[in-house]
Amino acid sequence: MRIGVVGAGLMGHGIALVFARAGHDVAIYDESPDALATVHRRVRENLQAMGLPLDAAERIALSPTLEGAVSDAAVVIEAAFEDLGVKRAVFREIEAAAPRDAIVATNTSVMTVGDVTAEARTPGRMLGTHWWNPPHLIPLVEVVQGERTDPAAVHEMLALLEGAGKSPVHVRRDVPGFVGNRLQHALWREAFALVDEGVCDAETVDRVVKQSFGLRLAVLGPIENADLVGLDMTEAIHRYLLPHLSRETVPSKTLTQHLQRGEMGMKSGQGMRSWSQEQADGVRTALAAHLLRLAAERRG
Ligand SMILES: NC(=O)c1ccc[n+]([C@@H]2O[C@H](COP(=O)([O-])OP(=O)(O)OC[C@H]3O[C@@H](n4cnc5c(N)ncnc54)[C@H](O)[C@@H]3O)[C@@H](O)[C@H]2O)c1
Repeated sequence: MRIGVVGAGLMGHGIALVFARAGHDVAIYDESPDALATVHRRVRENLQAMGLPLDAAERIALSPTLEGAVSDAAVVIEAAFEDLGVKRAVFREIEAAAPRDAIVATNTSVMTVGDVTAEARTPGRMLGTHWWNPPHLIPLVEVVQGERTDPAAVHEMLALLEGAGKSPVHVRRDVPGFVGNRLQHALWREAFALVDEGVCDAETVDRVVKQSFGLRLAVLGPIENADLVGLDMTEAIHRYLLPHLSRETVPSKTLTQHLQRGEMGMKSGQGMRSWSQEQADGVRTALAAHLLRLAAERRG
């Protein structure tokens, strides 16, 4: 199958890798020639780190125009900047240049399919595919059905992803953040609130997660966990605890104060925690090694 990818950044080149490895012909476009020029090197580095043959990279064609990447594609994945105006403009271009029956997916992290495709004339073939970073190592992809999405397009996308070795799930309602990012950011909201309220410091939040329930999460989801401990106990805990959890609807006070001081996290050496270059590199290396190990285990 021919797959077009628009946006060759962190996500786009990894998505291209996944489809190329599955034997599809991929064409990728980025408005930045520099980003496009590095695709083959980045894909080969990732294949090498995974211990896989490098020839899949040859199935990825670099296109200097958007039209060239999508004009004969059966499926197009948009992975441009997380900006509604940019996404709507890219969707307009894709809609004009891709075959009329091509499925068109946005890889937005949180925006609804309805928002991204509000101006589209052919919304039935448009949906969300929310891949996780790095796309070649994290199995899950959320396939998000918009109100105007044809269910047949959803099922085709689920089958394509399954065939490419991913673990796709069907998100039936078009809600901001889908499933994964709603859960993830519910946790982050509480994490920031605990620091805001002086309950503990940022290091302690991370240590509590990593050395307790975080260890279980890969084998025990929250609903399985509730069934495991018993719904009676879950209800008793929720009756007592839920009124005390954060219901804040704006970003945390501490987070905003850090940003006002120009403290953006690892990239500026200071965020909620302080980071030397060595410490930041250590986190990235440990994360990559962990995900590579799990991906190798899954491949057997
Ligand atoms: N980084 C993550 O962890 C992550 C995870 C899941 C989903 N996403 C989503 O994936 C999308 C891409 O994110 P990313 O992390 O790869 O960003 P990125 O900044 O690494 O890459 C985006 C690329 O899109 C290109 N681009 C921007 N406008 C364009 C246009 N009009 N036409 C063609 N190319 C254009 C940029 O030049 C850039 O190379 C975003 O919607 C993001 O929210 C990101």
